[in-house]
Amino acid sequence: MNKTVPTKPYPDQKPGTSGLRKKVPVFQQQDYAENFIQSIFDSLEGFAGKTLVIGGDGRYYNREVIQKAIKMAAANGFGKVMVGKGGILSTPAASHIIRKYKAFGGIILSASHNPGGPTEDFGIKYNIGNGGPAPEKITDAIFARTKVIDSYKIADFADINLDVIGKQTIAGMIVSVIDPVEDYAALMEELFDFGAIRNMISLGFRICFDAMSAVTGPYAKEILEIRLGAPNGSVRNFMPLPDFGGHHPDPNLVHAKELYDEMMGEDAPDFGAASDGDGDRNLIIGKGIFVTPSDSLAILAANANLAPGYSAGIAGIARSMPTSGASDRVAEKLGIGSYETPTGWKFFGNLLDAGLATICGEESAGTGSNHVREKDGLWAVLLWLNILAVRGESVADIVHQHWAAYGRNYYSRHDYEGVDTDAANGLVEALRGKLDSLPGTQFGNLTVATADDFAYHDPVDKSVSKNQGIRILFEGGSRVVFRLSGTGTSGATLRVYIERYEPDPNRHGLETQEALADLIAVAETIAVIRSRTGRDTPSVIT
Ligand code: G6P
Ligand code: ZN
Repeated sequence: MNKTVPTKPYPDQKPGTSGLRKKVPVFQQQDYAENFIQSIFDSLEGFAGKTLVIGGDGRYYNREVIQKAIKMAAANGFGKVMVGKGGILSTPAASHIIRKYKAFGGIILSASHNPGGPTEDFGIKYNIGNGGPAPEKITDAIFARTKVIDSYKIADFADINLDVIGKQTIAGMIVSVIDPVEDYAALMEELFDFGAIRNMISLGFRICFDAMSAVTGPYAKEILEIRLGAPNGSVRNFMPLPDFGGHHPDPNLVHAKELYDEMMGEDAPDFGAASDGDGDRNLIIGKGIFVTPSDSLAILAANANLAPGYSAGIAGIARSMPTSGASDRVAEKLGIGSYETPTGWKFFGNLLDAGLATICGEESAGTGSNHVREKDGLWAVLLWLNILAVRGESVADIVHQHWAAYGRNYYSRHDYEGVDTDAANGLVEALRGKLDSLPGTQFGNLTVATADDFAYHDPVDKSVSKNQGIRILFEGGSRVVFRLSGTGTSGATLRVYIERYEPDPNRHGLETQEALADLIAVAETIAVIRSRTGRDTPSVIT
């Protein structure tokens, strides 16, 4: 029944920030997905007879790769595969299922917030037994393996019917098709005060959740509408579509503009939120106010004790380096640890496992906690709702009070997408070359305090990750960070992160881009973005 199929390596299977992401036609090349999946298995040890979780965000090519992965898991000796009905598992739900059922690991098929469809993006990511993305030592081993692989193993049986929940044994392996929502919804009920949220909603609190035709639709319908009683229609675009209805399932102010406009309108609901393709990101908008992901992290951490799952307090807060320092101030006030990691959720895994951090977050719209080992869009929505239900105040009130207590970190990210790769690398190289000469240099009122290329020393496993982004820190706490995205599939994306700390409550009402204007100008002066990229303005400002 098992076949060993000869194959030739592909040179371009290096996992990025979050697994291997390529255009669908790249994945459709002969044995391309098989090579990568076999390289994952070849980089692991001790999984014989163990369980593998498989699921994806429902995008184009999801079902095909799931069938391949199931057959390859059987031929490679896994004892059991758990797969979400319809091939669906949100990334946080997959993480939870790996943990709950003590699986050996999981394969998640997603390209997150990138568009889907026959000519759009697809991705494969491996998660380890703690439910989190594989650490670099495993992704490096996978990449090394892809360069020399010469065969893969696959069992020869008919495709599994993914649309019927149930268990069967095929080729000596159990295949269990599970409800993708049930276990996850039960976990959310343990963490949050559903009674209080239900009560708030029954008193007329209005929610609008945009699932962006992606994976969180079924989860949000079940949790927000059925279990919490939000009226039918509170969750929109709830059917996962292979092409996300032709949109980018990226919950930001550009791609969720309709929701944003509605939340800024006269008749806005009390709370607006959205999630991305695979359900791990979140966007939070109150009536008339967008909450930046960095502020959201700080506010959730400061108020987490209002939710039953965190009533004993939190151990520490971790954020990625480009995320604003707002959460550091919360950690300081709570007297708990604060950690600064490179971009990528995988860097939080050790801190969570070691109990050093309880809540983590990134500027890229990811927030989560130790309940799973991925960021979790609906979790952030539910923690916000729990806080709103307990405090009985509006989102805007809570944000303004937070700024008054801690100061405001004005923050914005400017993205230059689809830039020529050589030009982008050249820009970063030139910045590296300037690092030593920058400290002490004055630009208007701003003086550079330090400048470096961020390196992370993991306090748990002592590993070191270098070249994680150029930081230019100014006296007084403002900063500009430059980094190239690790998740794109065509050309390069330059990200410029701009931050200014403002302690004075009388100056908390400025328009963000205005408040940052001098720093934006200095970023241009130092990095010469316009002439190096050929772009006059960023493609996306968040
Ligand atoms: C993925 C990762 C995140 C990361 C984000 C941005 O969503 O899971 O941890 O912050 O990508 O990555 P990029 O390299 O595109 O800035
Ligand atoms: Zn995602």
